[in-house]
Amino acid sequence: MNEQRDFLVFGSPKIEQPEIDEVLEVMRSGWLGTGPRVAQFERDFAQYKSGVYHPVAVNSCTAALHVSMIAAGLQPGDEVITTALTFCATVNAIIHAGLTPVLADVDARTMNIDPVDVARKITSRTRAILPVHFAGRPCDMDALRELAAKHNLKIIEDCAHAIETTYHGQPAGTFGDFGCFSFYVTKNIITGEGGMILAREEDLAARCKVLALHGMSKDAWKRFGDEGYKHYQVVECGFKYNMMDLQAAIGLQQLRRVESYWNRRRDLWAEYAEALGTLPLVLPAPAEERTRHGYHLYTILVDEAVAGISRDGFLKGMTQRNIGVGVHYQSIPEHPYYQRTFGWRPEDYPQAMRIGRQTVSLPLSAKLSVEEVQSVIGAVRDTLGSGIPQPKARHTSKTPMGIAV
Ligand SMILES: Cc1ncc(COP(=O)(O)O)c(C=O)c1O
Repeated sequence: MNEQRDFLVFGSPKIEQPEIDEVLEVMRSGWLGTGPRVAQFERDFAQYKSGVYHPVAVNSCTAALHVSMIAAGLQPGDEVITTALTFCATVNAIIHAGLTPVLADVDARTMNIDPVDVARKITSRTRAILPVHFAGRPCDMDALRELAAKHNLKIIEDCAHAIETTYHGQPAGTFGDFGCFSFYVTKNIITGEGGMILAREEDLAARCKVLALHGMSKDAWKRFGDEGYKHYQVVECGFKYNMMDLQAAIGLQQLRRVESYWNRRRDLWAEYAEALGTLPLVLPAPAEERTRHGYHLYTILVDEAVAGISRDGFLKGMTQRNIGVGVHYQSIPEHPYYQRTFGWRPEDYPQAMRIGRQTVSLPLSAKLSVEEVQSVIGAVRDTLGSGIPQPKARHTSKTPMGIAV
């Protein structure tokens, strides 16, 4: 019982009184579904992202990606190039939209999609690039935009990790046709389940809105609002992807603290870098010049040959020490469905495969207390110490083991 209580849950969000109050207000109002709070959350979020794109709130980033690809006018069989190191939702959304996913490997240092491999994967059927700003680090958008312009490709950004991210001063999610965000419980700000589309074109945002609510021409809240009943028409076969006011109530309040949470995670990141720098691990590379990292994940690499413990042994060791850890991610070609369906093999994406087999995410929630951070650091040290003794030569190497590749 005690052990259970002390367990540090990975990705546990920080929830404060204002969102609790706002949710209670929604409950008391009786208007739980899509309504004025969703509209306000859309406005506030678009404003936070510099106000240049058109927002559509939905119930997940997966839904955002799905609907964006349809609204982008991509046709069944069109190829979409995405990264081999992402959550399955990125690839599944491409498949759900009737499109063909094509994987590119990642850059070893940034863990983001490698534009050189993207260029190799472009065929006459390629219509879009779907970059993921992994862990909150922006992709090389100059290179990707150049490829997109040269080959007339759409860009749909998966910004599930990248609410606060900027690249050369420009916010993530405003580089292409659509940016898709997640407010899932482990994300930088949350709504429980939830997502947002930012669309460059207003008419495409309007289409996303229709697609996200059954293909109906009018919002349900207008249908039942105080202006009296409004008829609606089904103009295409849509989905049930709308966000609720109950969710937006949380998001509205969380968004007010997005920067203070970001500051806290940046400090945690620096603390981990300092404390773990001399250990036989590979730590995340520092943020690139002229970029702002979203600091969504702190991913260390555990190479058994160097660390003296396997990645899975490390995960187990941390769990035994009551620290919840994550894996972001096993590379996409490791999963049987994709192997069976597309014939993908992990070894064809060697960087994503290696990272996926070595990676461990440490807790990075803004909620972490000073003591909890010390517990994480202590558990990392103890877990490494419990492994097989490390070869001396690696220990005394002039290369600081804690610095990223
Ligand atoms: C990179 C990436 N893309 C997409 C998603 C899907 O987000 P959601 O859970 O909001 O559908 C996630 C969620 O974890 C993610 O990490």
